[in-house]
Amino acid sequence: MKKLIATFATAALLSTAAMSAQQSTEVQADIDAFQNHFLKAFPGKSLNDFADGPYAMSEDKMMQFEAVMEMPPFEDLVNKGEKLWKTPFANGKTYSSCFSGSDETLRVQFPHWSDKKGKFVTLEQSIVDCRKANGEKKMGTGKGKLAYMSAYLTTIAEGQKISVIVPNGNAKALAAYNQGKKEFYAKRGQLNLSCANCHVDAAGQRVRGNTLSPALGHITHFPVWRGKWAKKKGDGFGTIQRRYGGCNKQVRAKPRKRQKAQYTNLEVFHTAMSNGMKISGTAYRE
Ligand code: HEC
Repeated sequence: MKKLIATFATAALLSTAAMSAQQSTEVQADIDAFQNHFLKAFPGKSLNDFADGPYAMSEDKMMQFEAVMEMPPFEDLVNKGEKLWKTPFANGKTYSSCFSGSDETLRVQFPHWSDKKGKFVTLEQSIVDCRKANGEKKMGTGKGKLAYMSAYLTTIAEGQKISVIVPNGNAKALAAYNQGKKEFYAKRGQLNLSCANCHVDAAGQRVRGNTLSPALGHITHFPVWRGKWAKKKGDGFGTIQRRYGGCNKQVRAKPRKRQKAQYTNLEVFHTAMSNGMKISGTAYRE
């Protein structure tokens, strides 16, 4: 009997291993070091506190943030996103038919490594691919309709844990991750600054009226609704890759093309660094 149980237990272990790839040991070491850096730099904060970005760094700011979040200015757009997501294509199929698992889990299923494509894929790109596969027109991936749908998926994913896997022993996946890591640490633009200079080294410091957010937890609430973006009619939500473009411009560097290797691999690295954190839902930013 004991032997029988042991056999079953081993079989169960093997099948889970086959289903969910193991994290690359190198990547796991990066994640541990990254998270420990912030936990040490901001004593008293727990991992999930970092989801509140600049607001977690100041009590005043937090009060302003909480006041806005009581009556979120973006609810209508999230509802619009839900409607768009649930409206069938001309062929009768839905977005959900392109994915596996429930809609609530889609946000944390991405970005993920695709053996078939030989690259990492993001949720936003997969939504566009889904449209294409169903004979629908292309859609921009920075803002507008796609951002509303993506915001809806983030809203319903609240509480799900981020878990980006760079499969252990997969050299191609590791190379892509390392490209994203390089993009994060490389200095760029006329100001010659890297993402890390502002969002790791200077996190919590004030720059031109802004408090610099820590890169840890950057990803938990994207797409964000920004007051700045909402100044144009029908705008407000932007995807993470739209934000990358904005930050590149701040240092007077040319933004990369969205959903191409540089930004997608940056998104992989950037998201993996927040592994274990919960999706905090759609949020407001200045
Ligand atoms: C010159 C400093 C600077 C650099 C360099 C910079 N950013 Fe930013 N970033 C900002 C400021 C200022 C904001 C707005 C305040 C905040 O949230 O930190 C911001 C906001 C963000 C946000 C939004 C955070 C949120 O919760 O809404 C993300 C994500 C982000 N930056 C990522 C990056 C990435 C990735 C890079 C490198 C490609 C980068 N930034 C480079 C200054 C910078």
